[in-house]
Parts: sequence; C-alpha cells; structure tokens
Amino acid sequence: MPNTSPVKITICMGSSCFSRGNNRNVEALQEFLKKNPLPPAVELAGHLCQGNCQLGPNAMVNGNPYYTVDLLALTSLIRHYSGGKHESA
Ligand code: FES
Repeated sequence: MPNTSPVKITICMGSSCFSRGNNRNVEALQEFLKKNPLPPAVELAGHLCQGNCQLGPNAMVNGNPYYTVDLLALTSLIRHYSGGKHESA
C-alpha cells in the first residue's frame, strides 16, 4: 500500500551546517519540490544546531538523523520515505 503520510524534512540551520552546504541544500530542495509536487506532501522546516556539527551538513527525515547530506541524498530520502513517488533530482 502506498505511503500517503507527509515526509517531514528538517534541515539543520546552525551556522556550521549552514556554511557546510545546507544553505545550498535548502534552496535546491525548495526548487526540487516546486518541480515535483507529487503526493505525499513533503514538509520542509529548519532546526537549530544539535551538536553534530563535525558530521554536517545534517538533516532529519521523519525524525531520523542523516549526516553529510546533499541534494541527491535528500531527494533519495524523499523517494525512500514516500514509497518511490518522487523522482530524483
Ligand atoms: S550546526 Fe548543524 S549540528 Fe551543529
């Protein structure tokens, strides 16, 4: 059965993760989601530093932490958590 629950992505907006790539990841992910508005919905938010700066840039997807993320990793995670409904970047 396809997953229809929203995929919740929170991007670390702490200064270390931001400068290590999440500044670009946020923009690229927003652009990706505009071009791929397929269900289930993707909820995008930010969070503050969680103390894993050395592993950054970091993000969480449905409460699970992911480290050293880039757009390809994030879109792969969206595809994984949405049951394959979204195309990759
Ligand atoms: S800035 Fe992201 S974990 Fe510290």
